[in-house]
This record gives sequence, structure tokens and C-alpha cells, in this order.
Amino acid sequence: IHDGRGAETQAEGEAGSMPGVLFAACELGVFDLLAEAPEPLGAAAVAARLGTSSHGTELLLDTCVSLKLLQVETKTGKALYQNTELSSTYLVRASPKCQGNMLRYLARTTYLCWGHLTQAVRDGRNQYLEAFGVPSDQLFSAIYRSEDERLQFMRGLQDVWSVSGRPVLGAFDLSPFPLICDVGGCSGALAKECTSLYPACRVAVFDTPEVVQTAEKHFSFPEAIEKDGKSPRTPFRRDFFKDPLPEADLYILARVLHDWTDERCSRLLARIHGACKPGGGVLVIESLLAADGRGPLTAQLYSLNMLVQTEGRERTPAQYRALLAAAGFRHVQCRRTGGLYDAILAMRYFLGFGVRSAGGDEPCLQTRPDGFLHQNLACPPMKARSSPLHGIWSSPKERHLG
Ligand SMILES: C[S@@+](CC[C@H](N)C(=O)[O-])C[C@H]1O[C@@H](n2cnc3c(N)ncnc32)[C@H](O)[C@@H]1O
Repeated sequence: IHDGRGAETQAEGEAGSMPGVLFAACELGVFDLLAEAPEPLGAAAVAARLGTSSHGTELLLDTCVSLKLLQVETKTGKALYQNTELSSTYLVRASPKCQGNMLRYLARTTYLCWGHLTQAVRDGRNQYLEAFGVPSDQLFSAIYRSEDERLQFMRGLQDVWSVSGRPVLGAFDLSPFPLICDVGGCSGALAKECTSLYPACRVAVFDTPEVVQTAEKHFSFPEAIEKDGKSPRTPFRRDFFKDPLPEADLYILARVLHDWTDERCSRLLARIHGACKPGGGVLVIESLLAADGRGPLTAQLYSLNMLVQTEGRERTPAQYRALLAAAGFRHVQCRRTGGLYDAILAMRYFLGFGVRSAGGDEPCLQTRPDGFLHQNLACPPMKARSSPLHGIWSSPKERHLG
């Protein structure tokens, strides 16, 4: 990217130090303090209130100004600092869009794994053993190596949905799916966004016993969100590779497939296909790579992040299509949101039984002895009705589905 050795060195230095500046300023509470102060503060006042050195504080504040995280004005010879719009929105704890928990997780865990990127590239595997001395043959035992670590991970992961939840959930109209299961739904943050965008839907959050326990203790689930698909009181303690999945109209897999190898993804998708109601589907939420895998940079960096922290990788639309098709899903549609995460919707077709029409008991689709699926002509046209099938019927090629 840079021609000339000096520029490269400068870029390396900046790339290595910038996250450190951001983490330190967040951890020390610089942005919270400036948000709470009735007026801009000088470096000495910030240092006094944070209990930090005046020399270090001044250097940190001025670097934050260069990073556009703070703005400074000079009054009667004194530099006074305040937050920018960027830091007010994403770095102040009281902001509903604050990403502070994720930054803390990145600083304490992710960046320690990134410190072993060279070795990860050599070995082709994650670096938990090297970074923390923990074996990772059971991936999530390494990720959740202590109660504190699990909580930090869950808090970190929930932050992004306050910003990216609506774009991914709105990429397709999900209103035709009344019962949704968020598989690997963690703290329920995305489920919460889902019920707020689609108030008529119910969302079951499915995750490991430890995660559910931590979620119950530290996170609040709105009433519409069920922890086991039945009753908010029955705790959810299941493994999506082994235990039965609850029946649903739509399964959400957000940032789950990127944790796993193709083989594990295929196994999970096949299980979901088996549990899915006919006419239902799966919504995969991931950061999509370009068709040739060379970009966008954010997705490539996420993919390297999966290398140092998981067993998986980010994938191209074609790679997701292949995985979903192999599991039996059809009509795979990929939508890029322009944000950090994208959405892929795939459907499970009816096999043999047909489906009830929106208002009655007559099947609208039936398999005939010729093996093809036929529409019941007494039913209203598929496109006009609110149904999970909406859109499937639009392609003439797919009229014969049997
Ligand atoms: C990367 S996190 C994504 C969480 C959430 N979907 C999100 O995007 O914020 C992967 C989730 O899968 C869950 N998970 C991993 N292995 C699992 C298993 N075998 N059974 C159920 N959940 C599992 C983890 O506990 C975690 O919540």
C-alpha cells in the first residue's frame, strides 16, 4: 500500500498503537468523564478526576484528538477537551450504542491471540494455548475459560446489535415467521432487536447451559423472548450439535457458522433443516467476503480473527450457498447491508404434506403422485399473502419443487 520504507514503518507503528490508545482511554473512563462534565475539561482536571499522571493524561488526550475521538479548544492559553460525536455515540457508557464492552474484550482477549498471528498462519489453528495456556479441542471451553471471561464475551458480543441489529434483521421481511429460534443466541441481544422490529414474533434463544445461566444472572430478557421455546422459566441447557432443536418457522444463526469448519457447519445446518417447519427457513448473519474472497477488508480481518480465535472463517456468498444447499435448504438469497454484517435467507420447502392457507385449513401446496409440488388453485396467489413462502413462488423455475 505504501511506497517507501518510512511510510510502511509509520503505518505499522500506527496500526500497532492505535487500538492501545482507544483501549486505554476507554478503560480509564476518559470519554465517560468528559460526557458527564458540564463543560470541556483541561488535562490537569481530567488527570485529577481519573487519578492519573498529568504527563500521561495530556499525551493520551492529545493523541485522542489526532484520532478524532476528542476535540480541543484553547481558551486563555489553556487546552480544553470534549468528546466528538463519534466518541459520544460509541464510547460513552451511557450511550445506547456504546461499544465499550466489545473494546474491553478485544483488548483483554482478542488482541492477545492476534499477538500470535504469525504462529496461527504457520499452524492454521487458533492460539488459545499460546496466548492463555488453555487447550482448545473443545472450542467454547477455551473461549469460556472462566465465568468472568464468559461474561465479558457475552457483554462484548451484545454491543454490536445496538448498531447492526436492525440492518441485518430488516434485510429481509421476517414478519411472516411468527416463531423464531435464535440458535447460539447468547445473551438474547439480537432476539431483543428482533422482537422490537417484529412485535408479533416470538423468539426462543438457544445456547449452552453455562451461557443461559450467565444470561439469567446478568442480562434481562424481554417477555416475548423465551429461553427454551416453551416457557421463560424453563432454563435452556443444550448443545446444538447433539440435543433436539425446538421447532420454529425461522432459525437465526448469527456469527455462529464463522466459528466452525465446513464439516461442523454442515452438521449444524442439517440438524436445523430437520427441525425446521416446512415452509420455514434459516437466516444466517455473517460478514460476507467478496465473491473472489479478496475483500472487503473488514471481512478479511474478521476471517483472520476467526483463525486466531476459532475453528472457522468468514465465507463468500457461494460458500454459504453450497453449505445451505447441501443441508437441503433452497432459494438462498444473500443481501449485503453495507454495514459490518450481512444476511442470507434460505428456505426449507414443503415435502409431501402441503401447507395451510393463511385463513383456512386447506393445503395451498400439495405433492401429487407425479412427485411435483402443485399449488391449490383455490388459494389466494402466494405473492399477495403474508407467508413464509413469499418470494419463493416468484421464480417460474421453482414451480416444480418435488
Ligand atoms: C460467536 S457467538 C455468537 C452469539 C450471538 N449469536 C451473536 O451474534 O451475538 C457463538 C454462540 O454460539 C454458542 N454455542 C457454541 N457452541 C454451542 C453449542 N454446542 N450449543 C449451543 N450453543 C453453542 C456460544 O455459546 C455463543 O453464544
